[in-house]
Amino acid sequence: MSTLIVLGMQWGDEGKGKVVHYLAKQADYVVRYQGGNNAGHTLIYENKPFVLHLIPSGILFRKKYCLITNGVVVDPEALKEEIYILKKKGIFVTGRFFISEQAHVILPYHKLIDVILEKGDVKIGTTKKGIGPAYADKVKRIGIRVIDYLEKDVFEDLLEKNLNEKLFILKKSKINILKLKEKILKDHKELSKLIKPFVADTSLIIENAIAKNKKILFESAQGTLLDLDFGTYPFVTSSNPIAGGACLGAGVGPTKINDVLGVVKAYATRVGEGPFATELLDNVGEFLREEGGEYGATTGRPRRCGWFDAVAVRFSVRINNIKHLVLTKLDCMQSLKKIKICIAYKYKNDIYKEFPASRTIQKYAKPVYEEIPGFNKRIKGITKFDKLPINARKYIKRLEQLIGVSIDLISLGRKREEIIEIKKNTRWF
Ligand code: IMP
Repeated sequence: MSTLIVLGMQWGDEGKGKVVHYLAKQADYVVRYQGGNNAGHTLIYENKPFVLHLIPSGILFRKKYCLITNGVVVDPEALKEEIYILKKKGIFVTGRFFISEQAHVILPYHKLIDVILEKGDVKIGTTKKGIGPAYADKVKRIGIRVIDYLEKDVFEDLLEKNLNEKLFILKKSKINILKLKEKILKDHKELSKLIKPFVADTSLIIENAIAKNKKILFESAQGTLLDLDFGTYPFVTSSNPIAGGACLGAGVGPTKINDVLGVVKAYATRVGEGPFATELLDNVGEFLREEGGEYGATTGRPRRCGWFDAVAVRFSVRINNIKHLVLTKLDCMQSLKKIKICIAYKYKNDIYKEFPASRTIQKYAKPVYEEIPGFNKRIKGITKFDKLPINARKYIKRLEQLIGVSIDLISLGRKREEIIEIKKNTRWF
């Protein structure tokens, strides 16, 4: 048995796409277990950046199997586009890409509702891809699963019921509901045909693969601090990116998971609204945004940037029981004169070393910083840990002390080979 979960330790955009791409070479199966096309994994393919939103990045390796399991919400239109883009690059997915029958479908009304809700009292700063409204239908038990989408009569009946249930909110968009229904039915003809060959019992595929001792990589989207249960609620996504989410989202028992690898950025970023104690609203934040190319891969929105928050990352270590970490984007900090690390929060007269659940404390707590000198040297291109400047090594060691986990890999660029393996010959599977 050989299974590994790769997940984000902050608010997403930690560089999981690159890490999964790096590890996918060793894997036989790459599995997406939650989220939808709100994610954006930037990869380098034939020397050009390239973004995948839904299909796991392992698809770029021609012999790997890629699965979208039950925990994911699938927008058939987005899927069609992604299959088309891959085909144009000469990458064919038939026979090695499968979607769970039990995954829920995102339909155009979910996207409209996402936009309407964002104009309401609580603005989350969503990607407007219809993710939250689709998961809400799943929880309300009125959702349409992929298997339902394939059965024409079942689909038409559920569509009618869903549109009726949503009449009140949809009227706010001034959309013509009849025309919307016609369009959905028309597109359904084409999209259901397109999807059909890929639909399967993905939990069974995984079970059989495990029985054959195949190597399975579970790829999370978003990050632990955007988790529906453990993130900065309500400024979260509507699924569970944490390690536990892989069992639920892929139909795999917890005792079948061997290891969990956390991906953590050397500083912090977040897109959308919500608390962010270490956010930098000055020229250092601006500098990190430009150095790190911190613009949303899905929406193009500028990401908010800040110092490393050890309180939040320590919390992610606990929730996911992390024993190994990949530190990414350290090279983007190479020109900073001074670096700060948040070691605790202060709210009123109290010091918090554990990540607080209170939205008031999350919003108003001030970070308690420790300051260390910058690296004072260019680090991009370095391939050995010992060759890193002493201050960069000190920064890494201090992070390890604060969060209590060893950093096994360091990523110093977008390219697959720009990675330092601190622990040599680590076998991830
Ligand atoms: P939703 O997932 O579109 O509902 O958005 C909810 C929150 O999660 C918003 O703050 C989004 O910016 C954030 N979010 C969703 N997907 C990603 C991602 O892939 N990276 C970073 N943030 C994300």
